[in-house]
Amino acid sequence: MIRNTWYVAGLSRNFKYKLDKKVITALPMVMWRAQDGKVVAFDGRCCHKRFPLWDGKLLDNGVLRCAYHGLCYDSSGKCVDIPMQRDIPISPAAQLRRYPVVEQDGLVWLWPGDPAKIGDVKPPRIPELADSRYEAVIADPPIRIRANSRLLIENLLDITHFFPLHDGNIGDLANSMIPVGLVEGVVDGNPKVMTTRSVQNYRLPPYYQRWFGLEVVDRNHTHAMIGPGLVRVQLHVAPPGKLGTDDEAGYILCHTDTPIDEHHLEWHWIMIAKAGARFPPDRSMTLAQGMAFEFPEVVAQDEWALAKQQEMLDFSDSLSDNTTYREINLRSDVGVVHARRVLARMEKAENNESSGLSASSLEMAKYASNLRAQGAG
Ligand code: FES
Ligand SMILES: [Fe+2]
Repeated sequence: MIRNTWYVAGLSRNFKYKLDKKVITALPMVMWRAQDGKVVAFDGRCCHKRFPLWDGKLLDNGVLRCAYHGLCYDSSGKCVDIPMQRDIPISPAAQLRRYPVVEQDGLVWLWPGDPAKIGDVKPPRIPELADSRYEAVIADPPIRIRANSRLLIENLLDITHFFPLHDGNIGDLANSMIPVGLVEGVVDGNPKVMTTRSVQNYRLPPYYQRWFGLEVVDRNHTHAMIGPGLVRVQLHVAPPGKLGTDDEAGYILCHTDTPIDEHHLEWHWIMIAKAGARFPPDRSMTLAQGMAFEFPEVVAQDEWALAKQQEMLDFSDSLSDNTTYREINLRSDVGVVHARRVLARMEKAENNESSGLSASSLEMAKYASNLRAQGAG
């Protein structure tokens, strides 16, 4: 699991002066919006005896009190009260591990890994969320699936699953025939793997016909993984020859993908359309509202597929385990193959760093035992 990256921990609007339990990359976390308005995140285990801090209480003076023996922590994670030993100073070790948090575009991003590795890496932006020219509808609460978070990335980068999985709503076989291109890059320090699909004189599948009021179109469709935590989809459709003009329609569909652990993910889809655009089948709705109203049917199909895939993945150690099973890649898997390569590189770098740490701990242990042998310690 990759920890040295940004993941969405939740929506800004849901963080209040109350304790929230989060598990991200198998790490328990307690989060709240502190009295100064900033969202904070700490290890969810009390540094006394690991009691879950989300079962504690936020007091009127801004401190979190553990419900077990009453240790209190301020909004920097420092222990500021130990009720049973107020007569002696509090050890500086009585401190919760703090996780870096960035709040932007209505989302709260969290870095579960080593803060020293953040460097220039910034959480990816979704600028349309703070732009009045757009309207967005966000899945809230998020969708939880018993599936590895990589399966969602792979689902989104390979839309040949639109047939048969989404046949009759957003998919059909013709969609799967569109040639796939690949663009790689870096966005704000995050790796980007983007698939591109362009087609002319293409008959849209039924839901797209309804959503955009168009039948035969020119279409550009891109799917971009940005870091492992976000996939950004852009769909542009227009009557033939009219892409890039006022006749163009489409959507931006962002997907946050947060690993709870190796077997569970949390997913907010964010449907974005031009503000003011109406939904052709029911013009009392905006385009974003109408698409978001019908999109959960599509999402339910993906949830079903991902959970089924995970059931089969449970028979292996990982997506790259080929000891008892051999996977094949098709032409359309180009995005999946590159995303796997990028994520494997990130994971390897992280593992090397942590094994580097354990190597130096080993050195320290050897040094200490040498000292003892020499009667020095
Ligand atoms: S476990 Fe929290 S105060 Fe003892
Ligand atoms: Fe899908």
